[in-house]
Amino acid sequence: MNEVAEKVAFITGGGSGIGFGMAKAFLKAGMKVVIADVRKDHLHAAASALSDAGTSLHLIQLDVTDRAAVARAADETELVFGKVHLLANNAGVNLFAPLDQCTYDDWDWILGVNLGGVINGIQSFVPKIKRHGEGGHVVNTGSMSSFISGPGAGIYTTSKFAVHGLTQSLRWSLAPYGIGVSLLSPGLVRSAIYESHKTRPPQFGNIGPVNQEFVKRLPEIHRAGMDPDEVGEKTLAGVQRNAAYIFTHPEFREELRNIFDEILSGLPEGDTPGERMAFEESRRRANAEAKARMPA
Ligand SMILES: NC(=O)c1ccc[n+]([C@@H]2O[C@H](COP(=O)([O-])OP(=O)(O)OC[C@H]3O[C@@H](n4cnc5c(N)ncnc54)[C@H](O)[C@@H]3O)[C@@H](O)[C@H]2O)c1
Repeated sequence: MNEVAEKVAFITGGGSGIGFGMAKAFLKAGMKVVIADVRKDHLHAAASALSDAGTSLHLIQLDVTDRAAVARAADETELVFGKVHLLANNAGVNLFAPLDQCTYDDWDWILGVNLGGVINGIQSFVPKIKRHGEGGHVVNTGSMSSFISGPGAGIYTTSKFAVHGLTQSLRWSLAPYGIGVSLLSPGLVRSAIYESHKTRPPQFGNIGPVNQEFVKRLPEIHRAGMDPDEVGEKTLAGVQRNAAYIFTHPEFREELRNIFDEILSGLPEGDTPGERMAFEESRRRANAEAKARMPA
């Protein structure tokens, strides 16, 4: 999607933080934008901040875990703007608790939004992007937690690793249709994600013990994060070049190198039998050919 002017973007969790940064960057580039968000206050704030956008902006209150509502939002986008080209599956929530202390409710809530929301977006929007035949793009918001884990935020990390795998697999699937796919992987961003508990639905009431001391420091920690406008601009640039990975933060090079080195050091040495090697080589050739045909 080199040429984005007049194209239509749908952004989940677009009322705040990174999604809002994307909305600003996309509008500035001449796109039409739908901001979908579960929080009414975030939608109102976005509408007033972007009042200059006029008819290029449309707002929908949406819970990305509600499959029927996501399908309705896709129909509404077509009704309002005619087509949809760019899907940004960005809505996400976090919970700062180690895995062994989480409840089933914790799992269901976080995976429902961070992974289920991405799946629901794909199911409802990708058929519409395919149908008009003009190409398009799907950008899924992962995180550096799509690659790096730590002792806290275990469900979040699980969800973001899953979004990584889903995104790379989708990239192969959609290439023949001229639809690009990217994983956006930011580090720390100045956003309101530390308020995630405000969108936790009441049916997921059984909350495991969270690290309260750490939670108290979260607003301050996030204030040190990258400006979401910068993340939005970098996302747009990554979409335009169909980057597989849109990294925004330079400070992770050494940590990633160490992880990849650790993975490689776990691989066994030794010979591979010919037939098994032949299978892997044919698979690699097919992948290389498919990669060469990916939208530029
Ligand atoms: N802030 C960071 O440091 C950081 C780093 C890496 C990745 N991310 C990811 O970026 C994405 C955006 O988060 P952010 O940091 O901008 O936080 P944010 O809280 O500022 O924005 C997220 C938005 O998603 C909305 N949302 C939450 N649950 C929803 C649901 N069920 N349906 C629809 N909307 C919902 C919220 O209302 C909010 O407006 C998330 O996927 C997050 O995991 C954030």
